[in-house]
Amino acid sequence: MGIPSERDREAKGNPSSLSPIAHRPLPAAIRLQKVIADTGLASRRKAEMLIAGGRVTVNGQIVRELGTRVDPGRDHVKVDGRHLKPVPPETFVMLNKPEGYVSSMSDPEGRPTVADLLGGVGPRVFPVGRLDFDCEGLMLLTNHGELAQALLHPRHHVPKTYRLKVKGVLSEEEIASLERGVVLDDGPTGRAIVKKVGKAEKNSWLELTIFEGRKHQVKRMFEAVRHPVLKLTRIRFGPLALGALPMGRYRFLTDREANALRDLVRSRTTGNRREAMGDRDDRRKTGAAPPAHRPSPTASRRRVRRTAC
Ligand code: URA
Repeated sequence: MGIPSERDREAKGNPSSLSPIAHRPLPAAIRLQKVIADTGLASRRKAEMLIAGGRVTVNGQIVRELGTRVDPGRDHVKVDGRHLKPVPPETFVMLNKPEGYVSSMSDPEGRPTVADLLGGVGPRVFPVGRLDFDCEGLMLLTNHGELAQALLHPRHHVPKTYRLKVKGVLSEEEIASLERGVVLDDGPTGRAIVKKVGKAEKNSWLELTIFEGRKHQVKRMFEAVRHPVLKLTRIRFGPLALGALPMGRYRFLTDREANALRDLVRSRTTGNRREAMGDRDDRRKTGAAPPAHRPSPTASRRRVRRTAC
């Protein structure tokens, strides 16, 4: 902006003799209240009040003029004596995780983690769900915590597709039971889609789409029909497809992919709300009782944590 930076003042040697408005035309200049609001510290209106109240300094000098423009890359803006923290850009990364990597950012046992594969990403990102140590394929990582939570929430039924090799050849009846839902020790699984994609003499290649994400769910589903999983690769997560991303490599999502994730969450959220409202309206019309079993808030929180794969 037009206010001398600390560097400028140091160079001139006499900070107090400089006018706050210098004559340095900078194209990146942004209105001060917007710079403050963009960090999430305050709304733009509140930021204007902070400025007018003399609580904002730019390069060490109090600024009360609302139209003042600053260059966030150069100027030091403080509110109540504290530097504004820059907000990192929303970042979405797709990784093709290899076997032999833990799908978290650190491992108490010292094994390789996905963090080892993310050099150069920039902002700190976190995995959206997990993939077992001995599984590979598509992992989404982001610094958008709210979106990550929504994608993992069991209520949103985000589809995940796995390509897998299993022991033996499945009968039509076994496939139908996997698609209907099999009983696991933590309850029956929801609907699934199974597609045969290849057959060897002793093993089968399949694609499985599930709409939930319990721990080791795919392995446990196939154990339930006595065809243990020999190899497991996640190839799709919601609107994202692994495609030809090489093993162990990552790429940033395109804007279209990131928007598809946002749209998915938005549509599921409004859809669910509408469903819930519809339910309630139907009950009001028919006088029916609410559903007998509603999981407690703690139970649903527990389930969110369990939504892992
Ligand atoms: N199901 C599993 O069993 N493991 C995974 O890593 C993901 C889904």
